[in-house]
Amino acid sequence: MRPVRKAVFPVAGLGTRFLPATKAMPKEMLPVVDKPLIQYAVEEAVAAGITDLIFVTGRNKRAIEDHFDSAPELENELARKNKDMLLALVQDILPSNVSCIYIRQSAPLGLGHAVLTAAPVVGDEPFAVLLADDLIDADRPVMGQLIDAALTHQGSILGVQEVPRSETDRYGIVATEPVGPRTDRVRLIVEKPKPDVAPSTLAVVGRYVLDARIFAHLRQTQAGAGGEIQLTDGIASLMKEQPVFAHRYEGIRYDCGNKEGMFRATVALGGKYHNLLP
Ligand code: G1P
Repeated sequence: MRPVRKAVFPVAGLGTRFLPATKAMPKEMLPVVDKPLIQYAVEEAVAAGITDLIFVTGRNKRAIEDHFDSAPELENELARKNKDMLLALVQDILPSNVSCIYIRQSAPLGLGHAVLTAAPVVGDEPFAVLLADDLIDADRPVMGQLIDAALTHQGSILGVQEVPRSETDRYGIVATEPVGPRTDRVRLIVEKPKPDVAPSTLAVVGRYVLDARIFAHLRQTQAGAGGEIQLTDGIASLMKEQPVFAHRYEGIRYDCGNKEGMFRATVALGGKYHNLLP
């Protein structure tokens, strides 16, 4: 398998669950303590050796581009006032060998469609997908764990965790058989099954390493759950051609796609960074 250098960040969603906060601001820019959600995901990707960040954006997402760009007025002002630590914080958001590429998703047709939008930039190499809503606090960044597992098993790999049966209809759910200590081969994947028909309680979280063949399958994928072109359905189709694996990553995930998860992440990370908790 070729090295994984590119990561796709689908960031075109409207973030209606956080209105009014997201009326004029992308949901990916909501902060957990002092960093926007998207920066956590980007740092995780960069720590895993990713050098090309591909953001699939939509209207009202300019703040994301500005965040990862230089800010000359701010930097000059911080330098003039000798605020060296703050200056470093602003300047070191991305290492110099990392580039950002922005593509617009023409219409909100689903996660599978968003990933397919990145196809011309990804080309024919394996790539990562990170959903910024899933903030995962881990000693070893989860994307690094997944890339290692993808290299070991020579195939596409999905980050997974157990969820309560009552919540299966919020996730892609996989049925698997073990092939390694934390890694299984996926036998079946279905998007948001109701608890009574879910094939297991092993859920896909927003971390994927995918073979570029996924694009051919996504091009054929019809609208599925919720009337959207689902990445899950594209993966189900890819599995007819090549094995796909699921990796039980080590880390604590916060679902920052809803208010409760944001609150939990803020308390947990705030306490950790600032020693506020006993
Ligand atoms: C998406 C995927 C789903 C996955 C989830 C992880 O759903 O479609 O398969 O389990 O992300 O967060 P969404 O949360 O966008 O509805």
